[in-house]
Amino acid sequence: MRDIELKRQQLQQELDSQKSLAARNKLGQYSTPYPLACQICDHLKQYLGDTVDSFLEPAIGTGVFYSVLSERVNINRSVGYEIDEHYYIPTSLLWKSDNIDIINQDFLKTTPQPDFSLIIANPPYSRHHHLSKDMKMELSRKIKDLYNIDVSGLSGLYLYFLILSTQWLIEGGISCWLIPAEFLSVNYGSALRKFLLDKVDLISIHCFRAEDLQFNDALVSSAVVIFRNSQPTKNPVRFSWGNDLNQPAVKKAIEKDDLSSLSKWTEAVVCRESYEQSSQPTIGTFFNIKRGIATGDNNFFVVDKDTVDKYGISKKVLTLVIPPPRKLNSDVFDQALANENNLYLITCSEPNEVVRTKYSGFSAYLSYGLSCGVNLKANCKNRSPWYKCEKRDVSPILVSYMGRDNGKLPIRFILNEAGATATNSYLMLYPKDEYKYLFNGTSFSKKVWKILQSIPKEVLMAHGRSYGGGLLKWEPKELESVPCPELAAIMKTSRPSLFDFS
Ligand SMILES: C[S@@+](CC[C@H](N)C(=O)[O-])C[C@H]1O[C@@H](n2cnc3c(N)ncnc32)[C@H](O)[C@@H]1O
Repeated sequence: MRDIELKRQQLQQELDSQKSLAARNKLGQYSTPYPLACQICDHLKQYLGDTVDSFLEPAIGTGVFYSVLSERVNINRSVGYEIDEHYYIPTSLLWKSDNIDIINQDFLKTTPQPDFSLIIANPPYSRHHHLSKDMKMELSRKIKDLYNIDVSGLSGLYLYFLILSTQWLIEGGISCWLIPAEFLSVNYGSALRKFLLDKVDLISIHCFRAEDLQFNDALVSSAVVIFRNSQPTKNPVRFSWGNDLNQPAVKKAIEKDDLSSLSKWTEAVVCRESYEQSSQPTIGTFFNIKRGIATGDNNFFVVDKDTVDKYGISKKVLTLVIPPPRKLNSDVFDQALANENNLYLITCSEPNEVVRTKYSGFSAYLSYGLSCGVNLKANCKNRSPWYKCEKRDVSPILVSYMGRDNGKLPIRFILNEAGATATNSYLMLYPKDEYKYLFNGTSFSKKVWKILQSIPKEVLMAHGRSYGGGLLKWEPKELESVPCPELAAIMKTSRPSLFDFS
């Protein structure tokens, strides 16, 4: 490693430590670790040859990509933009003897000069709520005018950076971006997916595994996206996955036509099998999946034994409810656990007058709720009476649908042996009508539960969505789309076949 790179690393540390995390978060100031910048520049060499004509780093920070690239190839001309003087001043001093112009300007407000043969960027990831309404409108109007693409207001700054920087490239120029992998799956990523597919020639996307966080201080799972500024070619897109860009664990070339038919690209990246066998039975072939009950205020509507005793609430207005996932340390919710937790959901649809005469304890509890304004909360004020929580059939299997990829299965399938209801921190799996007859005892539910628990982590991950810090989440439709051919072997429909005379 060159001396100047060592100095740059020290400078980066010093400058970062002088700012609060909140301030760095706002401007997306998370530097690329040196080993990752090396991986990226090594990888790019296949497109570059020995000399780069003109290189642009649109959000330069202290210039890690310039440092690594200039170690590997000759660069005729380099330009970097940096909005924040805190980084700009010491960075321009550091590189003052090098052939690089560092400019203290907002890159997104600078008129593009289509001069550059190479862009490498780790743009600011600033979340949409850090961007002003005017700024978002201005940037999305530019994208609409240039590419006729509508950008969602929920998009982070990186999306605008990547798309708009393309105006700075010469025809055939290469662009390489280290960005959050979320754009592959979230709805607001669709503008970027469309851009990459229709407006440039997308070459490759590499996803780092969620557990190999690329940044020590910004909790994101990252992807490296490489494209050429030219009309899309017929070449397939090279997808890869793993903790080393140059030696990926999984590689797959996917035709652009196939990609355009996928609503989320994670399906293509994370799990080859599920992509290739998309016609196989899924959880949704056998189950309807619904979110648990939205009470309006779980603190009020879920009561423990102490509250029941204190007010003398009648059992007739209570339904056994499962504790939230963080308080449940077993994946089988049986009667013993139910007795231990003693949690109930208030389920009463009788009008106030009836409650007053029939259930005096419950009536006192409702008065307490009124005094806290529970009746004015969003869900409560729109239903009559305000305390009427939905009554649901019991579902034999519940699912906690948010989790981290920490080596174990990121979601939990819970066998609901005690027959509890659930609030919306769970998804509820309801067998479709033709399979209901199978679930008349707990032994069949247990077989299904074991099969669900054996679904490989990668298959589940291909169908969910990932957020910062490796947080994963599944919406009901996403969980329904998870392939599970093993279920087909035991889920025999009750509908007689036309040719079944036995
Ligand atoms: C994610 S950091 C990356 C820094 C460096 N390229 C690296 O990889 O280590 C993004 C940098 O962009 C700067 N930045 C944020 N908004 C900018 C803008 N509109 N124009 C230019 N630079 C900006 C931040 O101050 C920060 O230094």
